[in-house]
Amino acid sequence: SDRYGVVGNPIEHSLSPQIHIAFAEQTGEDLVYEKLLAPLDGFVKTVSAFFAEGGRGLNVTVPFKLQACELADALTERAAAAGAVNTLMRDQDGRLLGDNTDGAGLVADIRDNLNWAIQDQRVLLLGAGGAARGALLPLLAERPAQLHIANRTAAKACQLADEFSHYGALSGGGLEPLCSGFDLVINASSASLDNQLPPLPKYLFTSSGRAYDMVYGATPTPFVHWAREQGVEAADGLGMLVGQAAEAFFLWRGVAPLVEPVQAQLRRALL
Ligand code: ATR
Repeated sequence: SDRYGVVGNPIEHSLSPQIHIAFAEQTGEDLVYEKLLAPLDGFVKTVSAFFAEGGRGLNVTVPFKLQACELADALTERAAAAGAVNTLMRDQDGRLLGDNTDGAGLVADIRDNLNWAIQDQRVLLLGAGGAARGALLPLLAERPAQLHIANRTAAKACQLADEFSHYGALSGGGLEPLCSGFDLVINASSASLDNQLPPLPKYLFTSSGRAYDMVYGATPTPFVHWAREQGVEAADGLGMLVGQAAEAFFLWRGVAPLVEPVQAQLRRALL
């Protein structure tokens, strides 16, 4: 069987093996998928050894996505734009190719699973860290009517908007004041990880507005809870997790797995 894996630190609680093994069973692909714990100062050594021993592809998670970007011999456009790599593979020439499937996983979940429109919609992205950066190119490719980045530290959002301005129309600013009338608000801040809610005004959404949190959990995240309290349809990031894995699986195997059954399986296991 072909060998794949996920490398991170910590790695024990990664759901990636479960997801990729489910994809392999579903598609009949013959592969094994393991967890690799790399020492904090030993990412390159761990990755090099894995590929030297015949490994075919790796997912990369916290805290190594930036190092993976530096290590790769070649980057996809979306990985270069994200400045981070979550998927590594060897190409035909033996070079290490770095991709980033996080943003594509997000868009696929919103557009294809949730069936929420992005095209021609007014979209607000909260946060200006790595998660927000990784989402920008795939979101702009959907041609929203507007894409505004709002961040606690306004200058970081403005800088990000500036940096991506040649990919499409977008703007940046602080959390206050924020204009209203967004059709889709995506929380890419890490606030939910600390069980916190960014300070947000209640008038953010249109009457048919929707909310998406990149973070997921067994119980609704503070952002999902806040949105639902206002009668806004909201989803957490479990579908993004499965979506980014599906994009990586496709890159490695050339086969697109069905995400919905795997997401349902994970959701049941979470509860
Ligand atoms: P990640 O890789 O998850 O994006 P990051 O690069 O550290 O993590 O970025 C975290 C983002 O969440 C930042 O935009 C941060 O805002 P600042 O730039 O002002 O630090 C945002 N963030 C974290 N905690 C937050 C909170 N409690 N409220 C609002 N924004 C928060």
